[in-house]
Amino acid sequence: MNDKNRNKILLGTLAGEQTKRPAFWFMRQAGRYLPEYRELRAKAGGFLDLVYNPERASEVTIQPIRRFGMDAAILFSDILVIPQALGQDLRFETGEGPKLNPISGIEDLKKLSIDQIDEALNPVYETVRLTRSKLSAEGFNEITLIGFAGSPWTVACYMVEGGGSKTFEKTKIWAYQKPDEFQKLIDLLVEATIHYLSKQIEAGAESLQLFDSWSGVLDADNFDRWVVQPTAKIVGTIKQKYPYVPVIGFPREAGDKSIKYAQKTGISAIGLDFSMSPEWARDHLQPLLPVQGNLDPVALLSGGTALEKSANHILETLGKKPFIFNLGHGVIKETPPENLAKLCEIIRNFK
Ligand code: CP3
Repeated sequence: MNDKNRNKILLGTLAGEQTKRPAFWFMRQAGRYLPEYRELRAKAGGFLDLVYNPERASEVTIQPIRRFGMDAAILFSDILVIPQALGQDLRFETGEGPKLNPISGIEDLKKLSIDQIDEALNPVYETVRLTRSKLSAEGFNEITLIGFAGSPWTVACYMVEGGGSKTFEKTKIWAYQKPDEFQKLIDLLVEATIHYLSKQIEAGAESLQLFDSWSGVLDADNFDRWVVQPTAKIVGTIKQKYPYVPVIGFPREAGDKSIKYAQKTGISAIGLDFSMSPEWARDHLQPLLPVQGNLDPVALLSGGTALEKSANHILETLGKKPFIFNLGHGVIKETPPENLAKLCEIIRNFK
């Protein structure tokens, strides 16, 4: 961390410092639960039109900061811009989530190319640049701007299934039956992700998060090959090029495999999903590195005493060592914004 970042509580925590209170931000803090997001989203047309419009995407990134003053703003984009930039068709259909034309073998891989990904991704870098300059123009000097990407395994899951799935069997079958072929897809994603994250840093991202939403569907050996190893390559390269930029890893539902992930990937902090008990994380992960998490988004949606009880339990268990308060997954779209205001108050008052 350089000196001018001394006042940024999130960067302090990621450097392993014990800060005056836990840093906090929330996954999907920009999004449909906010009326000001819905308004801009309606003007933009589709979700991807919003993502590729730097002026509007930077507004959406800052909206939750203006309302709640979290310690970090997270770039407004999506993990699936990478497959799209590589040449795969991507659509977001209302109420249905993402749809891609699935890829299923080596022939489909040949159609993807890394050569011109910046043509598609330049607007995202511009969003990062604009967001940094707006944050500073508005006096948000203590807010850290987080860039992000999906991890190769999770992005590959969407590319192979053509969208979401419960079990990701098509992807697992490819990886289990033809690992050398599947490795080519992962290698392509590692290379694209390193490039994409490097450009985000050069545009002004001060920290990064890698989202591995589907790391939990793999057994231990496959977790090592398809999650730990590609993540280690990405983090290793980024650290070498940009030693001041910490990377948070979020291996969702990895359970006890999170220990290996924390030890072997080189990440600066680990995100916890809400299925993990704060006590287990305190005993097995916090001795290794700062942790981030892990309120159940449904507790936030519920509000009231359920919210207070869960938030205080997490703060009391994890708040004595470097800790970033977050949710265990994204904010649910029906969540009343007042509940986020209440949660921010609980965290700020924690001693
Ligand atoms: O966290 C933030 O506020 C930053 C923006 C962000 C979005 N997606 C915006 C978004 C981030 C970090 C993501 C990551 C992402 N995208 C993940 C990893 C985290 C996770 O949720 O597990 C995944 C798996 C995706 C892929 C994706 N994008 C799905 C499955 C969906 C549909 C589900 C849904 O909630 O509708 C999206 C759409 C999406 N990405 C929305 C937002 C705000 C909603 C789109 C809309 O406005 O209609």
